[in-house]
Amino acid sequence: MITTMPLAEAKKNLERKGFLALDVDPDLDFEHEIDRLKKEKNAIILAHYYVDSEIQDIADYIGDSLGLAQTAAKTEADLIVFAGVHFMAETAKMLNPEKKVILPDLKAGCSLADSCPPHLFKKFKDRYPDHVVVSYINCTAELKTLTDICCTSSNAVHVINSVPEDRGIIFAPDKNLGTYLQKKTGRDLILWNGTCMVHEIFSAEKITKAMVRNPDAELIAHPECEEHILQKAHFIGSTSQLLRYTHESDTQKFIVATESGIIHQMELKSPDKDFIPAPPNNTCACNDCPHMKRNTMEKLYLCMEYELPEVILDQWVIDKGVACIDRMLEISARAGL
Ligand code: 13P
Ligand code: SF4
Repeated sequence: MITTMPLAEAKKNLERKGFLALDVDPDLDFEHEIDRLKKEKNAIILAHYYVDSEIQDIADYIGDSLGLAQTAAKTEADLIVFAGVHFMAETAKMLNPEKKVILPDLKAGCSLADSCPPHLFKKFKDRYPDHVVVSYINCTAELKTLTDICCTSSNAVHVINSVPEDRGIIFAPDKNLGTYLQKKTGRDLILWNGTCMVHEIFSAEKITKAMVRNPDAELIAHPECEEHILQKAHFIGSTSQLLRYTHESDTQKFIVATESGIIHQMELKSPDKDFIPAPPNNTCACNDCPHMKRNTMEKLYLCMEYELPEVILDQWVIDKGVACIDRMLEISARAGL
């Protein structure tokens, strides 16, 4: 992996410090230790809604991709600890090149980011030299160097609408979000064919059955879901928009078509309402992101103790890639997001 300290090197560093995974005292109070390290190191823990609830509960900030980027952009902490996935930690590093950014597990990647290798995207982009490139933030740092404006699911409509009508747009890497944006904005987007492994496996058949069994429930869905799922949804939005909707709506029951980690915050905000995870197309009852779920309390403690693994990016990647994130943050601020 070129954009981070390789795992072998990170492991060697840990071994040099006499650390072995088995050394962790099973009786250690992780919550207490993490809190101690947070104060000692002037660290901030940023967590996405999809990580385990115990990590959400000790984070300094929990949010969607936009909120996390905005918080990273203005933090005064010395150490940024990212309980999320790789592209999120990379974004925080690009916004804070002088700070140390660490994440509990270097293998916490993203199928969507992986579905768009920069060298192939470069060839694709070269076929449309006059087009503006809008990339979902769920992409690698290197892909951001080939991007004009970044977006998240919270601000994607504003970002697309900010591009002059007479300019063509390439949208990468999520074809489902792209298809949804074409409908919302009326713009004709050239789509890269990428998907999120979590949002593409919801079962329309099982969701329909859940809706029949729960006629008083509303289906709410993330725009990374496939079109046939979105067509059934009463409300579509980013994780933070789904959370706000469930809290503000008069409806008491929701079938939630996104990663099940968000349900923790929904239940905290609206303890009297019912939340049913939308079933996927396999034998599991709910839909977890295996990358987000790589974050554990033990790994969080270890990464804060040893300040490893660290996100390290080439300077040219930071210099070139941060411009599309800055543009996204400007558009969001103008839109009051
Ligand atoms: P948001 O939290 O921005 O809605 O994104 C969801 C997601 O898939 C993050 O990986
Ligand atoms: Fe990537 Fe999907 Fe997991 Fe989000 S939920 S990190 S888009 S694989």
